[in-house]
Amino acid sequence: MKSKLDPRIRRIINRIRDESLRKKILAFLSDLSVEINGERYSGLPLAEAPASRSHHHSYPGGLIEHILSTINIALALCDSVERIYGGRVDRDLVIGGVVLHDILKPLTYYEKDGGSYRNSPLGERLDHLTLLVSEMLKRNFPLSLIHIVAASHGQAGPISPKTIEALICHIADDADSKMNWEVLNAAKYLVREVTGEPWDRMDSKMAFMILAWKAEGGWEGLKSQIEEFKRKSSICK
Ligand SMILES: [Fe+2]
Ligand SMILES: [Fe+2]
Repeated sequence: MKSKLDPRIRRIINRIRDESLRKKILAFLSDLSVEINGERYSGLPLAEAPASRSHHHSYPGGLIEHILSTINIALALCDSVERIYGGRVDRDLVIGGVVLHDILKPLTYYEKDGGSYRNSPLGERLDHLTLLVSEMLKRNFPLSLIHIVAASHGQAGPISPKTIEALICHIADDADSKMNWEVLNAAKYLVREVTGEPWDRMDSKMAFMILAWKAEGGWEGLKSQIEEFKRKSSICK
């Protein structure tokens, strides 16, 4: 299914200097679907997709946030490698690797009534890395970029990072996933403590706000801010 690419993601891709790589990635993102044995599989639109079913960025728009934040971290690591350690990094590969590393996750999810996620029929059969590596091979992406994707889960994946670009992408991915998961967890815990009720479908912006309310106003301040928020909207469940 063709859909308009988020301008923030497009801006990142436009930083790739290698024109043929840039075009290849844009072509891939313009139609995020795969064909297996004559059957075409597509998933949630990128703009609405979470980055995981119930862990980090597990809300609509979470995948785009994860890509944007991981890019920031990865480029900071590139700066560090080059300016402090005097090493060399191929930023085209780092940018391409971060943009692509979870890009087929939406095909592996299905949104249930009520907004939670479960594996799609495709996601029950193939994980997002296997799917993406296969698709990148089919589309003739460079091996060095395919390696970044294959190694993005580090020691927990099928292969560990063997290049500095793959290591940077893995560390950035891991850091952003952990930060997001910890913040969501902490905010959900705080809400449960003060309201006695769960707030499952919380996004990161709300989670960071809840942490700030607690830091600024303590338990009482947090309670009144949440009550005020609930009065103003019916989003809180
Ligand atoms: Fe992943
Ligand atoms: Fe990721």
